Amino acid sequence: MKKRVGVAILGLGVVGGGTYKTLVDHREFYLKTQNVDIVVESVLDKNTARLKELGVPDECIAKSIAEVVANPAIDIVIETIGGVGVAKEFVMMALKEGKSVVTANKEMISKCSHELERIARRNACGLYYEASCVGGVPIIRTLLDGVQANHITEMLGIVNGTTNYILTKMAQEGADYQTALKEAQRLGYAEFDPTNDVEGFDSTYKLSILSSMAFHTKVPYTKVHREGISAVDSKDIEIGREFGYTLKLLAIGKNSDKGVEVRVHPTFIPSSHPLASVNDSFNAVYLRGDAVDDIMLYGRGAGAFPTASAVVSDVIYAATHSEIKYSTFKNTATADSDVKFISDFESAYYVRLLVDDKAGVLAKVSGIFGKCGISIVKLTQKEKAAGEERVPLIIITHKTSENKMKNAVAKINASGLGCVESVIRVEA
Ligand code: HSE
Repeated sequence: MKKRVGVAILGLGVVGGGTYKTLVDHREFYLKTQNVDIVVESVLDKNTARLKELGVPDECIAKSIAEVVANPAIDIVIETIGGVGVAKEFVMMALKEGKSVVTANKEMISKCSHELERIARRNACGLYYEASCVGGVPIIRTLLDGVQANHITEMLGIVNGTTNYILTKMAQEGADYQTALKEAQRLGYAEFDPTNDVEGFDSTYKLSILSSMAFHTKVPYTKVHREGISAVDSKDIEIGREFGYTLKLLAIGKNSDKGVEVRVHPTFIPSSHPLASVNDSFNAVYLRGDAVDDIMLYGRGAGAFPTASAVVSDVIYAATHSEIKYSTFKNTATADSDVKFISDFESAYYVRLLVDDKAGVLAKVSGIFGKCGISIVKLTQKEKAAGEERVPLIIITHKTSENKMKNAVAKINASGLGCVESVIRVEA
């Protein structure tokens, strides 16, 4: 017998609009393939022009959240408002009424999933958030169901399309950061205030969610080491290429006997690595499991329909599964006290310096690295730039610790030999 499921959509922005259209346009298809009639009962948005543009019938336009949560014909509430304030308030109201929630909101899930899941459990309803990470790429379902057989030891992700677009533009056209950002804004990838994306906050929220699921332990977003791309110099992208590297903003999660390591920062990867060919606004997540070995999921991390694909797939899952599956880790505000987070993590490094062009400088610079316990793999002197007195030196190091590298950089800057222009971590 066919099942009827009523849904409400809160917020008709880019993702909400794509979700509305997908649900309406595919209603017959879902009826045929899933034996479930998913009906958009109600839509809540103050923007009447947008409601009209999408052709939402008058009888489906809700006047308030109170009206939505009081409606017995609504089983699932879709939240596509974004942010934490109003979105969280509305989601809590829906869960308290026993309505399952599907959300695309990474900030809210990263910061508040412990509170929301508690309410969902208490009211025997589901909380689904596939669309919160990597848009249309089914990474959450993969972690929850597809790779549960494994200890996941490592996760490397390009999880932000805006920054990937900017870095691709800088790499392919030699554009500087500001020019590439302006182009990303013109195309609608970057927002007017791009801070959330370019300073790595968006990737940090996503990494906190994904690593909590991959490593079966709460990874609060405050534990993620975060650096964005606004200080990236296209000169380094160019030089990196000569060394066989491609620069990406990576979300890195590692889980070993030593502890959990989570960080978001610009990273050089070998140009032969599968993630190096993930370009423009595309996203990808590369996972290593002890049984499955390496797998990579690739696709569109943003956009109306790719994100709607994840939202609506969650709606179908909620509509067709009577048993509810919650997080496979203890979803509390903080991590368990026995989980060790590594802040002095290890990495190989690319260092670009500008030094005086005098006898003995190379020996002194490499001597400082040696005294700091850092082993050098490669040291290359580049041509002096026109009008520049000092000469660029590029150093690639073996793996060393973050603190040792900070110490070496401080010592070089204080030595009078020259200065460190950039330091970029290298992931082999
Ligand atoms: N702003 C995000 C990005 C998409 O640029 O990838 C939504 O998570």
